[in-house]
Amino acid sequence: MTTRIALIPGDGVGPEVMAEAEPLIDWARSRGHRLETVRLSYGADHYLSTGETLPEEAYADLRDGFDAVIFGAVGDPRIPDGRHAEEILLRLRRGLELTVNFRPCQPLPGLSRQGLHLEVFRENTEGAYCLQGSTEPGRAVDLAVHTEVAVLRLLEVAFARAQARGCALTLAHKANVLKHGHGLWVRVFQSLQAAHPDVPARGMHADALLCALVQDPAPFGVIAADNYLGDLISDLTAAFAGGMGTAPSLSWAPHRPFRCAVLAEPVHGSAPDIAGKGLANPVGMILSTALLFRHLGWESEAETVERAVAAAMRDGARTRDLGGSLSTAGMGAAIRDRLSG
Ligand code: NAI
Ligand code: MG
Repeated sequence: MTTRIALIPGDGVGPEVMAEAEPLIDWARSRGHRLETVRLSYGADHYLSTGETLPEEAYADLRDGFDAVIFGAVGDPRIPDGRHAEEILLRLRRGLELTVNFRPCQPLPGLSRQGLHLEVFRENTEGAYCLQGSTEPGRAVDLAVHTEVAVLRLLEVAFARAQARGCALTLAHKANVLKHGHGLWVRVFQSLQAAHPDVPARGMHADALLCALVQDPAPFGVIAADNYLGDLISDLTAAFAGGMGTAPSLSWAPHRPFRCAVLAEPVHGSAPDIAGKGLANPVGMILSTALLFRHLGWESEAETVERAVAAAMRDGARTRDLGGSLSTAGMGAAIRDRLSG
């Protein structure tokens, strides 16, 4: 069967980093994988010129006619309320029920903290990011909705991963104050702890966890968190491994409710401060593509791409964010040059 992948470059540096991921898909095809890509132009320019964000028909076609999405980033200073970003990216995450957002942190060769291996599992569809609330004169409300089914789905994946790696699992929460929502997280976590006595698992208040992480991240193997805390914690772990430019992520729906059940995207946003200048580091996007290859069962391609990134870094290839002078395209080419090695 042909694997159909939708490419949504989006805004800002999104198209620049996507341009370095696309050749890897052609390369995977040249290695015998039957796949087809379709490029979709949804983003700020499309919204500003047509008023459309992600039309219902296009969304339904993505959901039922594709296997995976590779996403750049959305966000544009011309649309300060981020309406289009919400209706495109959050719609995909929530609509496709991509509960699990996996954000690994393993510093590449030449960066500090060699050997560190952290993985954040972030719930990706609800919590404080469910966009329910109101603004009234002198008062503003944001609702955070947590459901047992999504929390269980996320935590089961995190427990299985910690078990497979033989490492610690920490739940980040604030159940001391967020008694309802995070109380639910702690209860579900405790029920899974009983079922996985061999996983060294514990809950930690997120503020104390952040302090402990900065002091010594090494003992934390797998960290699970809700949408909001997971977003914050994974930007911190990205900083342990070279910053926003190198951090990959993969989101998926373990219960596969639809044909399209996985989305690869870098952790970073559209970076308007450096967009259009060829300064963006494509490594986060390229490593996200490798995560997608692994998820699709293309282990050899995933490993080859990851090895090529490591080799380029070992040979000193760097964009400006890592102190080098290569352009986005130059870094992408340095990685592709090492695909066979
Ligand atoms: P950001 O991740 O876009 O940028 C934060 C900092 O990291 C900036 O200094 C930027 O220059 C740098 N950076 C980001 N990507 C980089 C790369 N590939 N190489 C080198 N440096 C890089 O986050 P920010 O500034 O908070 O948000 C900018 C816009 O992106 C906003 O509209 C925001 O809503 C949106 N956003 C979108 C996300 C997504 O599409 N998944 C995620 C985060 C933010
Ligand atoms: Mg973030």
